Parts: sequence; C-alpha cells; structure tokens
Amino acid sequence: MSAYRTHTCNELRPAHINQRVALAGWVDTVRDHGGVIFIDLRDREGKTQVVFHPEDNPELAKMAEGLRVESVIQVGGKVVARLKTDEVDATNADLATGEVEVEADELTVLNRAAVLPFQLDRHVANEDIRLKYRFLDLRRPEMQRNMILRHRITKTMRDYLDEQGFLEIETPILSKSTPEGARDFLVPSRLSPGAFYALPQAPQQYKQLLMVAGLEKYFQVARCFRDEDLRADRQPEFTQIDIEASFITPEDIYGWVEAMLQRVFREAVGKEIATPFERVTWHDAMDQYGSDKPDRRFAMKLTDCSDIFATSDFRVFSGAIAAGGVVKAINAKNFSPSVGQVDSLTQTALEAGAKGLAYIKVRDVNDREGWKSPITKRLTDAEIDALKERLHIEDGDCIFFAAGAWEQSCTILGRVRLECAECMELLKDNHDIDLFWVTRFPLFGWDEETQRFCAIHHPFTRPVPEDVEKVLRGEISTDLCAEAYDVILNGNELGGGSIRIHERDLQDATFRALGLDEATIQEQFGHLLSAFSFGAPPHGGLALGLDRVVMLLGECSSIREVIAFPKNNRGADLMSESPAPAEPAQLRDIHIQVKLPEKLRQKLEAEQAAAQHVEPDSSPKN
Ligand code: AMO
Ligand code: AMP
Repeated sequence: MSAYRTHTCNELRPAHINQRVALAGWVDTVRDHGGVIFIDLRDREGKTQVVFHPEDNPELAKMAEGLRVESVIQVGGKVVARLKTDEVDATNADLATGEVEVEADELTVLNRAAVLPFQLDRHVANEDIRLKYRFLDLRRPEMQRNMILRHRITKTMRDYLDEQGFLEIETPILSKSTPEGARDFLVPSRLSPGAFYALPQAPQQYKQLLMVAGLEKYFQVARCFRDEDLRADRQPEFTQIDIEASFITPEDIYGWVEAMLQRVFREAVGKEIATPFERVTWHDAMDQYGSDKPDRRFAMKLTDCSDIFATSDFRVFSGAIAAGGVVKAINAKNFSPSVGQVDSLTQTALEAGAKGLAYIKVRDVNDREGWKSPITKRLTDAEIDALKERLHIEDGDCIFFAAGAWEQSCTILGRVRLECAECMELLKDNHDIDLFWVTRFPLFGWDEETQRFCAIHHPFTRPVPEDVEKVLRGEISTDLCAEAYDVILNGNELGGGSIRIHERDLQDATFRALGLDEATIQEQFGHLLSAFSFGAPPHGGLALGLDRVVMLLGECSSIREVIAFPKNNRGADLMSESPAPAEPAQLRDIHIQVKLPEKLRQKLEAEQAAAQHVEPDSSPKN
C-alpha cells in the first residue's frame, strides 16, 4: 500500500492469517500480560492488536513495553488468529479486526510522544485545553467521525449541485463591506494608505453580480466572516453552501434544497426524510411558537387569550389589549417549576423585553384555591373558567402569560416555551427530524435606536409581488412582505435566502427606504446599481450554514465540534494564539498606530497573562 504499510489498521481479517504485513499508526494502548506485550495500534480507519512475545525477541518486547501512548510506530510481522477455545476467548467482537492480531518481529519508532496534556479516551470538560492542543483533540474517534461526516456532507452537496448544472466559482475574501447584519472584519491596505478591505460577511453581492454576468447557476463552499458575539451555533468565521440562480422562483430553490438535503441525510447519516417540506408563514410561526425558527418537536403552542381579558380588572392584561396588544399564554403540561426555575424563566422573559412573567401553577383545576399564583386573586371565576377551557388545563399544569404588543409578546413567550421544554426535558432522547420552510418574512423592521427602517434579511431582498409597487412609491411599513425563506431543522436556522431585486429603480427605492442618502448609496453600492442597468436577469438564492448542518446531523452540542480549528467563545484561536499584537514594522507598513486607553491596556495585559496559563486537565495522566 505504501512504503510504510501494507494495510490500514482496520483491514486485517481471518483471510489474512499467515500473511506478512506492515502497519503504521499511533500507539493507542500498551498492556503487559505476564511479559507478553500487547499494543493496540490505531490509524484513521481503526485499530489492530499487535503482540510482542519476549521469548521470541526480548529486545523488541522491551522496546514495545517502553512506548508511551500516542507515539507513532511502524510494525512488521505475521497475521495470526487470536486464541478461541471453549475455555479461552481472546477475540474481540467490538473490533472489526478482533479475530486476528499481528505477531510483530519488527518495530520502528517514527516519533515518540511526550506525556499528554489530557487523555484522549476520556471526556475532557475543559474545552480550552482541547482547543490549545487541537491536533491531539482531533485524534479522538468522535472528532475524526465529525471531520469525516463534514467531508461526506460537503461532497454530497457538491456532487448534487454539479449534477444540477451549478458552477463552483470562488469570490474574493479581500472585499468590500456588504451588509448581513453583523460587524465587518477589516483589513488595512498597504498599497492604499488609510483604506480597508472588509472580509465578506457572505458573498452576497458577488453572487448577484455573477448572475448579471450570465453564469446563471452558481455555488460556492464559501467562508464567511462576521464580527459578532459568539454562541454554540455561531463562529466569527464559518462556512456556507452558497447558491444563486437566474430565471427562477422560490419553488426552484425549495426543490433544489429539499432534494439536496434529502440526499445528504441519506448518504451521510442513512436517514430518509420526506419531501416536499411543509411551509409555514413567518406570521404563523411567530403566532404559534413565538419564534421565526420554531422547534415544533413538542407542542406547547402559544394561545391567544385576548378576548378573555379584554375587560378584565387585572390591568396588566386589559391595559395591554386596550393599547392594541394581546394576551398570550402557554400551558406547560404537568410542570411544577421550582422557585429557582420560575426566577430563571422570569429573567428570560425580562431579557426578551417583558415587564414581568405572570404564571399560574394549577394544583387542583376545580378549586380556586388550587390555582397558585400572585395573579389569581385578580381574576374572576368566569376568566378562570374560560382559561381552563381554552388551554385545556388539568391538575399539575403551569400556565405562563405575556401581555403587550403582539410580536414582542410572542417572542417573550417563545423563549419561555423553549426554557420550559428544557426544564421538563421534553427533548431528551428525541430523534425526530422536523425540517420545514418559514416563508413570507417581513421586508423591513423598525429600529428603535436609529429610528429607521432596517432590512430583515438584507437590502437586496425582493418584496413579494403585491408589495413591489408600494416600495417603489415609498409607502414603507413593517407590514410589507419579503420574497424570503429560511429552512429550519429542529428549531435551528439551517439556511436562508430570497429572490433578489434585479431592477435599478426598485433597488434604489429600497436603499432610500432604509434611510441611505444618495452619496452613501453610490459609495457603497454604486457597482451593483450600475450592474442592474446593463441587463440583469431575475435571480435569487440561498445559503446553508454548513457548520450547522454538520452539527445537527452529527448530533453535536456546538459547531466547534465540527470545525477543525475553531475559535473559542472569546474569538481566540488558543492553539496558534491569535489574534496577537502585530510587529511595529508591520504596523508602520500599513500606516496603523495602536492607541489603547491606559486602563484598557492594563486590563488586556492581565487577561493575556491569565489566558497563557491554561490549566492542564485534572484527570489522571496516562
Ligand atoms: P444568512 O445571514 O441568513 O444569509 O446566513 C445563512 C446561513 O449561514 C449560517 N450562519 C452562521 N453559521 C455559523 N456562524 C455564524 N456566525 C453564522 N451566521 C450565519 C446560518 C444561516 O442560516 N447572503 C445570505 C444568503 C442569501 O440570501 O442567499 C446570508 O448570508 O445557518
Ligand atoms: P403587577 O400587577 O405589576 O404586580 O403584576 C402582576 C404579575 O404580572 C406579576 O407576576 C408580573 O410579573 C406579571 N406581569 C407584569 N407585566 C406583565 C406582562 N406584560 N405580561 C405578562 N405578565 C406580566
């Protein structure tokens, strides 16, 4: 097979018995059974047991015994059957190579491993140490599985898109700012002093320009950069499967994405998913689940109770309705939250903008005294009876309320709903796959801070046909709908896209609706408007978050588990220690002077000193 080995560590079977073989790989374990030394040798494909008999070759057995795990060795020897009699069974049914072993007569140490900072076969709680020694962490079987899965998924998508006539085209990394709602990473230019490139938040404008250029069907495994706060499903650099096509409607995008995901599920994890996916409007998703990426694997739907409380004496509720808002409720079935859980749920509601979180714990549904809540004394019997019927309340249920403007109340209750599900462990051992589209997003939102309209998706998104004229006439409101769609898997946004604007006047009107003046429009988007005046085809597309797809298919807890070299939650690469200060000469070249306020400088120095001192893992050493 190569100069180093004749087989992989997952290849030898009884059919190979008596053959001479050579294997190379990492020492997974070393065991001494009364002088006979057993080494499990591991490579990417699997493990093979290698045995050294001291009576045949004492030198070699001694050398093997002294090897530290994770050293890299090459062995030569003969494949033999493992002992299996009525009394003794030395075979290992858990190992593909478990019926045989290699009796070694040659051993070459290719690289000796030092004492490891953590054990590869144990769970390591401290993620920082895993990231600092990522090259070791990636040797763990589950990480190798994740990398292989990522490759499979990417390859399946590539193959599918190629078959459908999409061309893979690369677009610049050193580029110009394009708004996707996050901060840009900037790169100073040496050749244009004082000017900066922006790393792409997505190849959005380039892919649209490729449509203007007549390439018709584009895709890219595209690296995107967004300077935003990191979470389990967000990284500052991540990968999109980015798609754009001309002369299409949303139906074309739905068809491609559904077929592509169907194939990915089949080929990567052996699961069948049904197509076409259901479609849910943004309004219904918000109204029923309080989220634009609802987790529908459990019900606990938001129920409107506004009519029940329109004239209530409880002013929190009736006041909200009088102000044009709603009262919504969820029934957490058979949930008796602890004081701590109620506090935490209330905190969640407050963070989402609530003024409070009214709730009722129902011990005995037929006895008013059994409705435990600070608010029940303010409610009438008729209101309680109506609630009972509307929410199908039974003994042991817990009801939560949000009163206020519709969208905010839905959002608040949506978050409370998810946290209740977590407290109740509703999704424990749930392996359902719920894939669907959310459609008809609002085109614009209202930004309180800047007192301006903002694009919900991005400013290149087309209004639905019935709203195009309104945008052109400057009749802007948050009621306008976008020809935009997200694909959701189990409460996660897998991807999103839209049909684009391809007319100069509509694009211009959209920029104006967003409060951009002529000079800014020309400076930021002049090239796009120019392109739209030279024959731009109708076009649209979508981008799937590849990291999220792999994370969800691999049932991982974070996208860091499926990225070879991710940043930690402070945006740092602990292995290469980036970001790092630049050399003065480098800074001079690019005309940059770093000036930090004294207090910040001191704080950073203290933090850096602490970060360099990553604690070794506390679990026992090999
Ligand atoms: P959007 O901003 O919705 O759309 O991004 C598309 C998908 O990319 C993934 N994603 C991320 N993954 C990891 N870390 C992040 N920080 C991160 N941000 C986004 C999500 C998301 O659904 N240009 C448009 C697409 C289009 O209109 O065609 C865009 O980028 O899974
Ligand atoms: P108060 O009348 O202010 O004592 O509020 C009574 C209960 O209603 C408290 O439990 C508050 O947390 C809750 N509450 C206050 N405002 C709202 C609201 N907008 N939506 C839901 N519950 C609320």
